[in-house]
Amino acid sequence: MAVSGSKRVLHVGCGAATLAKLPQGFQDGSWSEVRFDINPAVKPDIIGTITDMANVPSASTDAVYSSHNIEHVYAHEVVPALQEFRRVLKEEGFAVITCPDLQEVAARMADGRLFDPLYISPAGPISPIDIVYGHRASIARGEIYMAHRTGFSLQTLVKCCQDAQFTTLAGKRRKQKLDLWVIATKASRGEEEIKRMLETYTF
Ligand SMILES: C[S@@+](CC[C@H](N)C(=O)[O-])C[C@H]1O[C@@H](n2cnc3c(N)ncnc32)[C@H](O)[C@@H]1O
Repeated sequence: MAVSGSKRVLHVGCGAATLAKLPQGFQDGSWSEVRFDINPAVKPDIIGTITDMANVPSASTDAVYSSHNIEHVYAHEVVPALQEFRRVLKEEGFAVITCPDLQEVAARMADGRLFDPLYISPAGPISPIDIVYGHRASIARGEIYMAHRTGFSLQTLVKCCQDAQFTTLAGKRRKQKLDLWVIATKASRGEEEIKRMLETYTF
């Protein structure tokens, strides 16, 4: 656990500690990161699956940060996982969810070049096939938790958050980065406030 401030952000699907870099809004000294992952090898503070977070008490965290994680569960598990995010949030809490933008990835692979790298990540080159099904090199090493089981456009991720009873939502697509972002709050927020949160708590 990276302890600094009194507010708690639960980083679900945190991966290895060195990979985790939270957006600027979480770096003002008022937040402590609690790392949660299904894979004990990444040494999380809490080991568990986002589909059943029974080991996290209800209303115990100020924010949930889910980066390149929600696409690792099956489509029918997405809304239950988002309901778990909502359950563990305090009344004023919010979730930040980012994942690949399959709409943009689909456009980039429409010519059939599934294996041509789109960009170089710290883990190596990433091609459309890695974004659709999960990072091949990691999976080949036996890291089965890296497999992708579903995918999203901004529209479908927002719909899943609505189905999970989040109240106020804002989202954006970063086409160059091939990702999308959603902020989802438990209690109602004004339009200006949610826009400000989208700027503060996303890249
Ligand atoms: C691509 S990594 C993302 C790591 C980090 N959040 C980041 O953005 O750099 C995906 C992580 O999700 C974890 N994961 C996969 N399925 C999960 C599940 N059902 N519950 C919790 N974590 C899961 C994997 O073990 C892995 O550490």
